[in-house]
Amino acid sequence: MTKQILVLPGDGIGPEVMVEAIKVLSCVDEKFKLGLEFSEGLIGGCAVDTKGEPLPAETLALADKSDAILMGAVGGPKWDQLAWDMRPERGLLGIRSHLKLFGNLRPAILHPALVDASSLKPEVVSGLDILIVRELTGGVYFGEPKGIETLENGERRGFNNFVYTTSEIERIGRLGFESARKRSGKLCSVDKANVLNVSMLWREVMTDLGKEYPDVELSHMLVDNAAMQLVRAPKQFDVIVTGNMFGDILSDQASMLTGSIGMLPSASLDANSKGLYEPCHGSAPDIAGQGIANPLAMIMSAAMMLRHSLGMEVAADAIETAVTAVLEQGLRTADIVSAGSQAVTTQTMGDAVIAALAAA
Ligand code: IPM
Ligand code: MG
Repeated sequence: MTKQILVLPGDGIGPEVMVEAIKVLSCVDEKFKLGLEFSEGLIGGCAVDTKGEPLPAETLALADKSDAILMGAVGGPKWDQLAWDMRPERGLLGIRSHLKLFGNLRPAILHPALVDASSLKPEVVSGLDILIVRELTGGVYFGEPKGIETLENGERRGFNNFVYTTSEIERIGRLGFESARKRSGKLCSVDKANVLNVSMLWREVMTDLGKEYPDVELSHMLVDNAAMQLVRAPKQFDVIVTGNMFGDILSDQASMLTGSIGMLPSASLDANSKGLYEPCHGSAPDIAGQGIANPLAMIMSAAMMLRHSLGMEVAADAIETAVTAVLEQGLRTADIVSAGSQAVTTQTMGDAVIAALAAA
């Protein structure tokens, strides 16, 4: 049986890192006879340029019929001045919302070989393995009403609404508890319940849900404290569950513990584990087109896709083992290179992963 994968390279370094991920997927497809089939679509700035909108209907139609979606990155200075609904980011938020991808898994794992690439001391980060479970289709990103209005006195006022319903909290909460169950059994729910009503409800619902998961040790932490604890003693965390905006911020922060945001993959899942897989990094317009971007987050996003949406655990493991092997061989792109060493190109890194797969 074949599996249909929609490939959305996007903008900036998206297409460059995607080339490497597809090479790696084709390699495991061959090796493990997976029956992967690829189609390609437009999203973000490139879609604005050719179709006049960041999320064309054709892309949504392709996404609806595919088994999983692999995405590069969207955005860049070229499109920053466009009206709000024409911005590349609207494309990304639109597809997340259209496909109901409420559950965003962002693992922050420090590869032992990269312990010196982290900005924190080796003893603080070595062995780090955190999973951030971020709610992705609600909260202040999507709450209504929102807008920018002009008041009677001529002053302008911008506003968004930070809202969560109990069912939205329960849905992401369950993903958090289930994820914790498969790991160390520790779940930390992050909120701002000392100030925000929405967070008070969040904490209440998480606490109630906890009664259904007596085997999981649930704790609560305020988001400001969590930001501090993540750099003070990150290994105290195993699974963190949090809302859309807090998860956005904390996952960027957690990425630096692992050496580079260029190392962080992500999965965005619906209720049936159909998903969109993208690196946590953005389109990095400053280095786009130079062939120096780190493709490993994209490649590991492809591995997550095989595991979470396609049930191809063995191939996923093989890719992750190959990534570990190339890091142990000492290959480093510019973002993770140590002073005095030579950085390899995006393509060399991708080729090395394939060679490691072949050697396994
Ligand atoms: C992310 C990104 C997006 C987000 C942007 C590009 C809309 O920062 O996936 O973390 O804020 O969700
Ligand atoms: Mg982000």
